[in-house]
Amino acid sequence: PAPLRALADRADVRIGTAVNMTALADDTTYRRTTAREFSSVTAENVMKWESVEPQRGTYDWSKADALVRFARDHGQAVRGHTLLWHSQLPGWLTTGVADGSIDAAELRGILHDHITTEVKHFKGKIYQWDVVNEVFNDDGTLRNSIWLQQLGPSYIADAFRWAHAADPKAKLFLNDYNVEGINAKSTAYYELAGRLRAEGVPVQGFGIQGHLGIQYGFPGDVSDNLARFAGLGMQTAFTEVDVRMVLPVDAEKLATQATYFRGLLDACLGSRSCTSFTVWGYTDKYSWVPGVFTGQGAATLMDEDFVTKPAYGALREGL
Ligand code: XIL
Repeated sequence: PAPLRALADRADVRIGTAVNMTALADDTTYRRTTAREFSSVTAENVMKWESVEPQRGTYDWSKADALVRFARDHGQAVRGHTLLWHSQLPGWLTTGVADGSIDAAELRGILHDHITTEVKHFKGKIYQWDVVNEVFNDDGTLRNSIWLQQLGPSYIADAFRWAHAADPKAKLFLNDYNVEGINAKSTAYYELAGRLRAEGVPVQGFGIQGHLGIQYGFPGDVSDNLARFAGLGMQTAFTEVDVRMVLPVDAEKLATQATYFRGLLDACLGSRSCTSFTVWGYTDKYSWVPGVFTGQGAATLMDEDFVTKPAYGALREGL
């Protein structure tokens, strides 16, 4: 049977996965399956700030470069994730801000240098960058991160301008969770994106993570939400799709899960704006879900032995 990426080619969309670099190095089944099924890859962790600059001024690109090489060898595009986030920051940075040894002016310079250095390092090799990640709360107010506290809301426009200067061809994305449907948070993004674009700030994409759980119901208005960003002239993407469930697994839950994956894919394929559909890992063997959401799991397309679930078949049929 044709792998997902062959079907996605015909549908003119990239089908992607987050990649766990430890598994890619150690697990040949994982390596083979990642190459066979996907036309886009995202670093699950190794492009984040704490990974690339663990000590101030000391960069380590080795794992991220290995992913870019893997992608090139297998004809895959690379999504960059992520330049500016409140989480997985290096200790030297959070400590320096907390103890006052890094003031606001210095922090702005550090952010500028981080974005410039990382985007330039990968220049020409990344088709979409998640420039800012998770900057809004669910109620549509800006998240109270060190970035907002120290720099004020203009840090968002700055980040896009700096990223664009470093690689003018990469498509630059906002990215967040709980923004599948039309709600206070996705509306905050819609208004922010409209304002930024009116001011000429280079923001070209809206990334919807798509971390769902069957116990919460399927979000409404997903197609309408994509359509309003398309109306701004923007691309959209599903960037981190997984659908968790309260364990244990049973056939009914897996069937429901399949309809959720399919619902997001159909919304993507139904919108001219939607250019990529990425899952946050494709095997339960390496999924982040059980470690973070107690009692939940089975959130991906394949079980721990790489046996496909109904959700995998649902994506194949949908493509
Ligand atoms: C997660 C990774 O999957 C974990 O391995 C890591 O411990 C924490 O981060 N939103 C994001 C991703 O944008 O970067 C997160 O990835 C999942 C939620």
